[in-house]
Amino acid sequence: MAVGAHETVVILDFGSQYTQLIARRLREMSVYCEILPFSTPLKEVRRRPLRGLILSGGPQSVYQPDAPRCDEGIFRMGVPVLGICYGMQLMGQLLGSQVQPAGHREYGYASLHFNGASRLFSDIPSPLRVWASHGDSIANAPPGFTVTAHTESAPVAAFEETRRGLYGVQFHPEVAHTEQGTAILRNFAFGVCGLKGDWSMSSFTQETVGRIGETVGSESVVCALSGGVDSAVAALLVHRAVGDQLTCVFVDNGLLRKNEAAQVMERFAKRLHLKVIHVEAAERFLSRLQNVADPEKKRKIIGREFIAVFEEEAKKLSGVHFLAQGTLYPDVIESVSLRGPSDVIKSHHNVGGLPRRLKFKLIEPLRELFKDEVRRLGIELGLDESFVFRQPFPGPGLAVRILGGVTEERLAILREADDILQSEIKKGGFYRKLWQSFAVLLPVKSVGVMGDARTYEHVVAIRAVESVDGMTADWAKLPAEILERVSSRIIGEVRGVNRVVYDISSKPPSTIEWE
Ligand code: XMP
Repeated sequence: MAVGAHETVVILDFGSQYTQLIARRLREMSVYCEILPFSTPLKEVRRRPLRGLILSGGPQSVYQPDAPRCDEGIFRMGVPVLGICYGMQLMGQLLGSQVQPAGHREYGYASLHFNGASRLFSDIPSPLRVWASHGDSIANAPPGFTVTAHTESAPVAAFEETRRGLYGVQFHPEVAHTEQGTAILRNFAFGVCGLKGDWSMSSFTQETVGRIGETVGSESVVCALSGGVDSAVAALLVHRAVGDQLTCVFVDNGLLRKNEAAQVMERFAKRLHLKVIHVEAAERFLSRLQNVADPEKKRKIIGREFIAVFEEEAKKLSGVHFLAQGTLYPDVIESVSLRGPSDVIKSHHNVGGLPRRLKFKLIEPLRELFKDEVRRLGIELGLDESFVFRQPFPGPGLAVRILGGVTEERLAILREADDILQSEIKKGGFYRKLWQSFAVLLPVKSVGVMGDARTYEHVVAIRAVESVDGMTADWAKLPAEILERVSSRIIGEVRGVNRVVYDISSKPPSTIEWE
């Protein structure tokens, strides 16, 4: 990002899983921010038009010998500093507090009581339900500081020294569980730092496009289009920056939904004028998947085959130096992030092993964004809402929705059944309300009667769930009329199916996908 463009808040990352959430909350208030590793030298931090600093939380204890620390000089830079959790403990320790293991660790909700007026808590009622997550406590505020709030087990839950604009909170205002958390960050940004809020998604687009242009110069870029939103938005940003120096590769693995491959080509090649190579690799994938019933084996085969096909295509393109990828922030959280020490949380299925060994330089313009931010960006770049708000679709596609072996015949049945489901869900106005809705082809046949004849045919299961992030999910209480229509249409219109069942399991203990 061009250093110097906007009033900036720098977030020093001490490894909290919530660091990016702080950034996201600030972006939502039109505040430009950058996350830098805790060890960034002051000189580097100062290169920006700095108006505020936030010290993130972190998993360590400040009194451990190897605990991450920042330069104490940040408290003398003349810009306000907000320490969150570990950040507050570090501020306290560096300026004279005693930090020690807490008698009562605070994990989860705590009730926060204000001790008196504070700019940080301006116009916020006390007490507040806040989200805390720490095993250490601050025994006393540093000299010159005032303790502004407490909880039952943390006598120093917030402190401040208004002359230098130093603030600390022992809970996480950035997480949704904290009541008025956004208001607290807003008070810091606007009330304490005096920011105007001069940043927007269109500035993000402009700056990202500018940066990609500078990085790529006159070289070529390749991007794997999956048909999903993330790779599409990444490709469009790169396309805006370097036009036809970008070549997209769309690998049609034969496991997509009805008409999907044609729609990808229509949307990206025809309408948005991207250079797209359509690789029709269905046969390759299907022959590798023959008689494979184990879900993890299917995933591995599909992942490996995708890399092989992509590699072959990339080799045909001469002189490509860059690979653009639609990696989002939730995909990035990993043991050693490039920007800081974010702690390990989970490895997500979406992070494919795309070919680091190909020795491309990576362009990942979305790696600091969350899904909904990427959707807004997609709209800004000219994608239509119906595409941008598509429900998630797994990389291995219909292969993990056909239980047992994957064959052409089964794919054809599932595609038709799924298409009917989608159209009824959309007609009923439920598509955007559901996290996912899809059909699953079961590996059993059941007896039925059609006309006067006995049938012995496939069973299709319908899965529809509500969820915020896919980590937990509730089965959707769809109106019986919709389910009835879906069932009778599938049985009536899809040859080979004589029974439709509705999946009423939630996650956990079930998963969203059946495989
Ligand atoms: P589960 O089934 O684990 O799914 O509850 C959670 C979310 O992840 C998606 N999913 C996948 N996405 N490759 C993907 O790209 C996969 O192998 C895969 N498996 C599950 C699933 O659709 C849901 O949104």
